Amino acid sequence: MAKDSITVIDNRTGKSYEIAISYGTYPEYGAAVGAVDLRQVKVSEDDFGLMSYDPAFMNTASCQSKVTFVDGDKGILRYRGYPIEELAGQSSYLETAYLILYGELPTKAELDEWAHNVTFHTFIHENIKKFMDGFHYDAHPMGMLVSTVAALSTFYPDAKHIFDAESRKTQTYRLIGKMPTLAAFAYRHSLGMPYAYPDNDLSYTGNFLNMLFKMTEVKYQPNPILEKALDVLFILHADHEQNCSANAMRSVGSSQADPYCSVAAAAAALYGPLHGGANEAVLRMLGEIGSKGKVPEFIKKVKAGEGRLMGFGHRVYKNYDPRARIIKQVADRVFEVTGKNPLLDIALELERIALEDNYFIKRKLYPNVDFYSGIIYQAMGFPVAMFPVLFAIPRTSGWVAQWEEMLLDPEQKISRPRQLYLGRDRRSYVEMEQRASAREGSPTGPKRAA
Ligand code: CMC
Repeated sequence: MAKDSITVIDNRTGKSYEIAISYGTYPEYGAAVGAVDLRQVKVSEDDFGLMSYDPAFMNTASCQSKVTFVDGDKGILRYRGYPIEELAGQSSYLETAYLILYGELPTKAELDEWAHNVTFHTFIHENIKKFMDGFHYDAHPMGMLVSTVAALSTFYPDAKHIFDAESRKTQTYRLIGKMPTLAAFAYRHSLGMPYAYPDNDLSYTGNFLNMLFKMTEVKYQPNPILEKALDVLFILHADHEQNCSANAMRSVGSSQADPYCSVAAAAAALYGPLHGGANEAVLRMLGEIGSKGKVPEFIKKVKAGEGRLMGFGHRVYKNYDPRARIIKQVADRVFEVTGKNPLLDIALELERIALEDNYFIKRKLYPNVDFYSGIIYQAMGFPVAMFPVLFAIPRTSGWVAQWEEMLLDPEQKISRPRQLYLGRDRRSYVEMEQRASAREGSPTGPKRAA
């Protein structure tokens, strides 16, 4: 009998099955049995076979991946093997994006070429400005970003050639290059200000700040400390293995939709308050708490089930999120320029109390990446509604890397989960006048739902 397998006995039939175990790079984190192997477990020949039931993918590996490694118990995050602390300390966002997309740190020539190609694609078609103008003055910038990135699909029909490596490269340049422009235009629209065009002499984040904040000056000069801080924040947000939005990217991409539509789906997934919208929710929460003194009362409410402590907890991290640790250091540098955000004291007090409280200790709830990022963004002058957008821009490199890996993986097909059907057995069509009486005692009909 092979050693790397499990033996399953079906107590319904007494039959035993041997199912192989496959491993990832680290056997202690990456051992899995194939869900399809369970199909041989049947009570009869015409039985469908056993499935695994796993709502929300709590314990299902949906792919093999070489991009990002997370050890949630130890609080480790690595892109392509490189620790996040080293990348945040020594790399730049564009270099990290290259690493995530292509698997290796670039040489000087490769980085120069990559930066040139991304920069070359920062401009958007003038018509995009026209439909930006159609949004209501108070449209949420994330809604505008989701819509406009989807609309890029109509400007670049060549993006449909997803199995053409050259086309994929071009769409990658366009996506990484244009996301900051779309985001900045959405922001300027919400202020009723004229759009500021990209300045391709500036760095990736310097140019983004230029498109957001340029006023009447001939040439915008970003503050180097804020430019660097934003760059570090972009590195921290670049990828995070199979999270909700990466899964959306892979799932939509698996139908062979073009990358703009797939990125729009991923960005839509990111928008929710349990994912990338959490940084916005944290700021609103801190504002509602209002002062340090009110923190204990707020924690009491959370423990009583009245809302969540936003920016705390993670599906994978059961330890301090390493990104949150780095963000706290970035915050100190930013506040030296901008002055301290008064909400920081409330956040620090929340963290202090929560980390000593049995409710949070028992559930292993620690600050995640979103807990402190919003406080920095606000100090840098970003309105709260822009926070999820600031997550989406750098995450685009991760989405595209996950998408390409999925496309080139011979084991991947269109994503199509199974279900456990709990609905009614076959029944005959009921004429209108008999419906009320037919519903009497119906276990799933509207009467029961009401
Ligand atoms: N505040 C209070 N209780 C919490 C929190 C929280 N933030 N998060 C989880 N819990 C409790 C939850 O009520 C449950 O308790 P019980 O066992 O008594 O029912 C237990 O902890 C497990 O929670 P869960 O909802 O089953 O955990 P999950 O893995 O499904 O959810 C999460 C992960 C991130 C959605 C959740 O922790 C959460 O809602 N956090 C707040 C939102 C947030 O900060 N999201 C950003 C995540 S990091 C950035 C990103 O990758 O998007």
